[in-house]
Amino acid sequence: MRGLECRIGRPVSVKRWTLLGLVLTSLGLARPTAAPAPSGPPHLILGTAWYPEQWPEERWDEDLRLMQAAGINVVRIGEFAWSRLEPEEGRYDLDWLARAVDKAAQYHIAVVLGTPTAAPPAWLTQKYPDTLRIDEHGRRAGHGGRQHFSFTSSRYRDFCRGIAEAMARRFGHHPNVLGWQIDNEYAEVSYDEDTRQKFQQWLQARYRTLGNLNQHWTTAYWSQTYFDWSQIPIPVGYQNPGLMLEWKHFISDTWRDYQRNQLEVIRAHADPRQFITTNMMGWFDGYDHYVVSADLTLASWDDYVGQGQLDPDRNGMTHDLTRGFKRQNFWVMETQPGNVNWAAVNTFLNRGTIRTMAWQAVGHGADAVSYWQWRSALNGQEQYHGTLLGADGTPVPVYFEVQQIGREFAQASEALAGTSPESPVALLHDYDSRWAIDWQRHNARYDQIQVFESYYRALRALTQAMDVVNPYAPLERYKLVVAPDLNLIPDDLARNLTAYVRAGGHLVLGPRSGMKDQYNALLPQRQPGLLADPLGGRVEQYYALDQDVPVSGNWGSGHASIWAEQLAARSPDVQVLLRYGASNGWLDYQPAVISRAYGKGRITYVGALLDDALMQAAARWMVAQAGLSPALGPVPPGVEVCRRVAPGASPGKPAKQVFILINHTAQPQHVSLPRAMRSVLTGHQAQSLDMPAYGVEVLVD
Ligand code: GLA
Repeated sequence: MRGLECRIGRPVSVKRWTLLGLVLTSLGLARPTAAPAPSGPPHLILGTAWYPEQWPEERWDEDLRLMQAAGINVVRIGEFAWSRLEPEEGRYDLDWLARAVDKAAQYHIAVVLGTPTAAPPAWLTQKYPDTLRIDEHGRRAGHGGRQHFSFTSSRYRDFCRGIAEAMARRFGHHPNVLGWQIDNEYAEVSYDEDTRQKFQQWLQARYRTLGNLNQHWTTAYWSQTYFDWSQIPIPVGYQNPGLMLEWKHFISDTWRDYQRNQLEVIRAHADPRQFITTNMMGWFDGYDHYVVSADLTLASWDDYVGQGQLDPDRNGMTHDLTRGFKRQNFWVMETQPGNVNWAAVNTFLNRGTIRTMAWQAVGHGADAVSYWQWRSALNGQEQYHGTLLGADGTPVPVYFEVQQIGREFAQASEALAGTSPESPVALLHDYDSRWAIDWQRHNARYDQIQVFESYYRALRALTQAMDVVNPYAPLERYKLVVAPDLNLIPDDLARNLTAYVRAGGHLVLGPRSGMKDQYNALLPQRQPGLLADPLGGRVEQYYALDQDVPVSGNWGSGHASIWAEQLAARSPDVQVLLRYGASNGWLDYQPAVISRAYGKGRITYVGALLDDALMQAAARWMVAQAGLSPALGPVPPGVEVCRRVAPGASPGKPAKQVFILINHTAQPQHVSLPRAMRSVLTGHQAQSLDMPAYGVEVLVD
């Protein structure tokens, strides 16, 4: 361990990088080693986004040589190269791409092919301006940026299908192509007339009759009643919540359909071993990621810190969110090699934290970490973004940290093969509820991601493993299920959750739970709707707070802020765990948290946003109730434990387990292990670790 750590502990001078380059050259890395195409993907992938179309072909060898020397084994290419791949309508030029794919194979670097549909060429949008999207103010997008297409345009989709099919026919059986990324970061929607008509048709298929729609949206309000489908608008600004929610559902279905247009044609021509993904954006809520992930082979996301330094909990939680999209391992398709170019302050990540970030991704279930980007285009909008090479084509300092990651990924690849994170605790995450609350926060400071994170932080510190899943995911395997923000609980979901509790699970509901149905209409019951019965209690009234309110009880004393619900225990066996102190008169001494044993399990309602100390006490209580213990054992604050397991013959007995320990602090940390363990990175066996600042360990029994 020490040996590896000290490599990043010393300053590296420019001269020494040059020297290293010379050494690598003398080791024979200047020319491709005669290499067969890779027989299969490595278990841990280190990648980068490479844009061969931006450079003369004579440069490719040098790029690939430097990549190979850094331990990079995958490049993602092609995703913005449409104007090179189809320079005029219907004339495909894939030869240069084939040469790039073959050339990469010579350096043992496999390829993920991006379909280039996020950036249509100028000939296309000039000849067919109807393919351009219209923004909510009625302005048509122009050429020069990206994502300027309309996601509903049938004509645009024909072009997308054409280029995707041409690529799939050419590369679908190419041994060096590992998989496909469709488009790039779906985000921009269109407000054109064609989209509006499609939305109306979509609504008609969903509601069948206008009477049904009018009833669920309560359009008697403000004379909103629709007499004809053609009267229904695309919502702009704050509109009827039912209309707004369905617009989001339409967007989600439309992206899925947009994606399927390419996915089907790729699947038709590609080997089944080639995966298909798209790169998502963490907590971005432009569409329902569970819907759009459904047809993909694997989920992937673009992990950017932006301004500041890594927040390990926030970032770990986002990995867990992404793992939950398909409830399996995922890829980090893009991450910053140091800095981005789009934040207010494009801070550079501290030395050593490129590596901790990479290992954190793996710890949370990433099988690949890929840097955006290899080298900046000499011109174009992203000249200032972080890269692994400078404009002069030689490594920048961060290259060497990535090179260390490359060595370590190679060392740990076998140990991590077939493993995934596993947790007995799930946080439920639901887009409908997020949208519903965000449109009517009622307190501008009500930030659902922060609420979610307050539960995540407190619980993960105790369990060292968390899942984040959709509320409709199978829940039987979880001992504890926490729903911090489940605003919409339709009847079928209430029944699922009740069954989970009855069978022995512990369900914890946060504030604002069970207020609405699937149409974003208020339930005709008090919160938490149908769950009020198993809970044996309900919400009497909610209050947006501009001042903290004291709370105390079984979890100690502290305060609630931003939001407080006055609860009522209506069944004699309900425990009141926290009560409010004196505040606005209404809340004074009323229940803030109630809990009840129900069936073989338990249901708890937390009616307020609690301070950190109370959240920690709440988490200790939840964990004790569920009989949970940490995956490894206690570690100092700032040290993160991740565990990946390979399923064994019987539940609870994994075939193998690997622990990844990350010191996210700039101070050394001493960690006692529960037993002697072997480091995969150094081969040393020890029962305790002295981790340097930003140290990483990968341990097996
Ligand atoms: C996104 C895009 C990339 C690049 C990066 C820059 O993730 O997918 O093409 O623009 O942002 O951070």
